[in-house]
Amino acid sequence: MSGLLHLTLNGNFLRSDTMRFLGAFPSLKFLSLSSCMLYAAALAEALASFTNLKILDLSFNNLTGSIPTEIQTMSSLQVLSLAGNSLDGVLPEYGLCELKKLQELDLHANNFEGNLPQCFDKFSSLKLFEISSNKFSGIIPPSLISNLTSLEYLDFSHNKFEGALSFSSFANHSKLEVVEFISDNDKFEVETQEPIGWVPMFQLKVLLLSNCNVNRAKGRVVPSFLRSQHKLRVLDLSHNFLDEPFPTWLINNNTMLEVLNLRNNSFGDRIHMPPYRNVHLRKLDISGNHMIGTIPSDIGKFFPDLNFLNLSRNALSGDFPSSIANMSALIILDLSDNEISGEVPQELFTGFFQEWYAKVYVKDKNVSDRLRDVVGSWFGDIEAVPHFLATNGEKYGSEGLNKSSNGTQGKPNSLCALFWKNTYTLIAIREETTLGMFGKVIVIIVAALASENR
Ligand SMILES: *[C@@H]1O[C@H](CO)[C@@H](O)[C@H](O)[C@H]1NC(C)=O
Ligand SMILES: *[C@@H]1O[C@H](CO)[C@@H](O)[C@H](O)[C@H]1NC(C)=O
Ligand SMILES: *[C@@H]1O[C@H](CO)[C@@H](O)[C@H](O)[C@H]1NC(C)=O
Ligand SMILES: *[C@@H]1O[C@H](CO)[C@@H](O)[C@H](O)[C@H]1NC(C)=O
Ligand SMILES: *[C@@H]1O[C@H](CO)[C@@H](O)[C@H](O)[C@H]1NC(C)=O
Ligand SMILES: *[C@@H]1O[C@H](CO)[C@@H](O)[C@H](O)[C@H]1NC(C)=O
Ligand SMILES: *[C@@H]1O[C@H](CO)[C@@H](O)[C@H](O)[C@H]1NC(C)=O
Ligand SMILES: *[C@@H]1O[C@H](CO)[C@@H](O)[C@H](O)[C@H]1NC(C)=O
Ligand SMILES: *[C@@H]1O[C@H](CO)[C@@H](O)[C@H](O)[C@H]1NC(C)=O
Ligand SMILES: *[C@@H]1O[C@H](CO)[C@@H](O)[C@H](O)[C@H]1NC(C)=O
Repeated sequence: MSGLLHLTLNGNFLRSDTMRFLGAFPSLKFLSLSSCMLYAAALAEALASFTNLKILDLSFNNLTGSIPTEIQTMSSLQVLSLAGNSLDGVLPEYGLCELKKLQELDLHANNFEGNLPQCFDKFSSLKLFEISSNKFSGIIPPSLISNLTSLEYLDFSHNKFEGALSFSSFANHSKLEVVEFISDNDKFEVETQEPIGWVPMFQLKVLLLSNCNVNRAKGRVVPSFLRSQHKLRVLDLSHNFLDEPFPTWLINNNTMLEVLNLRNNSFGDRIHMPPYRNVHLRKLDISGNHMIGTIPSDIGKFFPDLNFLNLSRNALSGDFPSSIANMSALIILDLSDNEISGEVPQELFTGFFQEWYAKVYVKDKNVSDRLRDVVGSWFGDIEAVPHFLATNGEKYGSEGLNKSSNGTQGKPNSLCALFWKNTYTLIAIREETTLGMFGKVIVIIVAALASENR
């Protein structure tokens, strides 16, 4: 057995001395001990034994302390995952940096702190660099990024980085596909405009630059390099104070787009539909901008498979877009804090009613309880909800509704109407003043209630 090459023991409750036994397999190349409740002392022992190891996965254990210097003996290592432990300390300039063959380094969800060591620029084969959810701080050295030309996937989100990162450091990374920087502080900045006219060698699939003060000193413009990108699936530029007309070209250029989050910027302009029907877009969030004009009535035709649409907190006016009735995948719709008026199209509810008849019944008290919490938090009107739930199998139920009126009339109540879409989904419509037909809709929210018994 001493010739054992590959060992996976994920998800077992290993005794700490197991690691010592593993020393009997010095030729091991692949060792995976994820979720084994291992703790710290075990790590150093383990590392010292395996000089041939190529893949070491110790993710989601109970490892504490810092990365032992013994790690430097594992010079064959190509994949190292220590994610999801409680490791801490500053990464040293020696030890880890001797692993020059490293292709994947996953340290996410630990408590590491301090600067990223400059010696990381030796990882010329590194493809995956995942250090999100730690406490790394300081600036990200541009030379560190520019040397890692094999990078495909980089996630530095949820740390404490400061200072400006020039995105052109990634310019020559032809294999780069995923870049994630979700910043939790206001001291980190991403600059994308220098040198002028730089052209990336990458085509990104995922780019998250949320709360990154993008181009703070460059007129808060949308990164110009994005004009060369046409394979984006997920783009998040939320919380950046970007101040431009709405970048319709992003949707026009990226026909595979699935998620576009531009929340909380200063985009102005009207909402324009793309010149094609985007069947991939699932989530569109343009809330908290300065969008004007009406919501195109044919939005449902161009984005038929949206399941999340948030246009809240803009200056949109005009009628409720009729084609929303045709967006059968819609789960969350938030049009609040605009000046949208007119009737909610009856078709919106017809569709829901049909499904309602087909699928809905709430006998699970657990679901009811969760539902009450959700609705209660929206309306502060918890009393209405148990009543609604009590009518299990009936069309309407809250105090504010009149069963004989299809939900279009009833007693004024903050809770005007509740409709089930399917077992897990609730639509709430709140009206401003009196009822009648839906006079002035100020909030339309649909909430998904996750359920396992789907
Ligand atoms: C591992 O960590 C979990 C969660 O922190 C804790 O409940 C458990 O007792 C720890 N196990 C060991 C063996 O230290
Ligand atoms: C990193 O790149 C710089 C120039 O950009 C170069 O001088 C240095 O040798 C590189 N470091 C490594 C370890 O390849
Ligand atoms: C990219 O490569 C070009 C040509 O080799 C070089 O001039 C430029 O400095 C490189 N950019 C970065 C950020 O390394
Ligand atoms: C993307 O849009 C910009 C602005 O309209 C345009 O200049 C560029 O050529 C487009 N790129 C692609 C790949 O379509
Ligand atoms: C908008 O983004 C700024 C910058 O990150 C942040 O300070 C502010 O709280 C955000 N506002 C909202 C409503 O999310
Ligand atoms: C929609 O966006 C607004 C403003 O950004 C936010 O406050 C609200 O929670 C969002 N609604 C949903 C349902 O996510
Ligand atoms: C919904 O889709 C159907 C079929 O494509 C179409 O005939 C109808 O006009 C659409 N309704 C709205 C309100 O856009
Ligand atoms: C309620 O549902 C949650 C999530 O499915 C589950 O974890 C919990 O055990 C359930 N509670 C009861 C009392 O059934
Ligand atoms: C519902 O409407 C019927 C007929 O208009 C009326 O008799 C009844 O009192 C109404 N119920 C409520 C709860 O408003
Ligand atoms: C309620 O809707 C159904 C089907 O849409 C319709 O047949 C019925 O007349 C409506 N009832 C009222 C009171 O509007």
